[in-house]
Amino acid sequence: MVSTIRTSAPGKLMLLGEHAVLHGSHCLVCAIDRRITVTLTPRPDAVVTITAGFGRYEGRLPELPDDECFRFVLAALRRHSDILPSGCDLVIDSDFPNVSGLGSSAAVTVAAIAAAFVWCDFSWSADVLHAASLAVIRDVQGTGAGADAAASTYGGLLDYCAEPISQRQVKHLPPIEVLYSGRKAHTTEVVAELEARRREDPHQIEAIFHAMDEGCGLAVNAGAAGDWQKFGEIINRNHELMTELGLSDTNLDSLVHDLQADPGISGAKLSGAGKGDCIVGIGQVENAEFAHERLGLQITRRGVEVA
Ligand code: PMV
Repeated sequence: MVSTIRTSAPGKLMLLGEHAVLHGSHCLVCAIDRRITVTLTPRPDAVVTITAGFGRYEGRLPELPDDECFRFVLAALRRHSDILPSGCDLVIDSDFPNVSGLGSSAAVTVAAIAAAFVWCDFSWSADVLHAASLAVIRDVQGTGAGADAAASTYGGLLDYCAEPISQRQVKHLPPIEVLYSGRKAHTTEVVAELEARRREDPHQIEAIFHAMDEGCGLAVNAGAAGDWQKFGEIINRNHELMTELGLSDTNLDSLVHDLQADPGISGAKLSGAGKGDCIVGIGQVENAEFAHERLGLQITRRGVEVA
């Protein structure tokens, strides 16, 4: 019997094009230097156990009853139950800061499916892993562009499009500063609210998505040239567009503006669905008095890995 398999995948941060990417636009997403590790040990029976810092699960294949804490891993196992040789013990370790918006669901999905593929001796590529992960994310959430799964799979800074799926590495990686807003955002709710507004006023919302798509193209060129001043200006403009979409408010704006005001930062914006989660700045904070909670994250080229 195969002994233990260990895989890991990084979390993610959205830099540009949130929401618009769900409607065919490009976005910029990056992998962060914090990872989720999955350790899989095959069992001689059909039992599946999952152990993580936040809970424990036990069920049997092929049914695997659902559990709120482990929705993504269970959906991943269920979707691949026809190729799994038996049950298994899974241990999940995360070195993420305990805040949302950093792509833990996608990272654990990518790492768990990679572990299952290795275990089954399945011939896979990064593209196959990304497609399988996106299918699981859509099973669980009902929506999702797959930018988070792309960052967790390929690593780096990606120019990503979901329709049709394409991803391209941006040549240089900017230094980033990430703050936690102190407020959890609910991505599926925010996406549904914005979708309702888009149905009411498609012209206005789609014009903003179009401006986001253009900004993404300009940012890819700035990133290719390592022009972080220009890149930061595009990030600032994207925050204005997110505000026009109703995704910010005065409290979040004031955090963004404090980061934008730092001399070491060329641009800053809300990251992710909006209405909370993280704020990302391009550059490094220079003002020693800067008061907000800094997460100390950087972009990494490391994508999914099999140990
Ligand atoms: O809330 P986050 O960090 O998972 O980002 C969501 C980004 C959206 O474009 C709103 C949704 C998606 O699937 O891309």
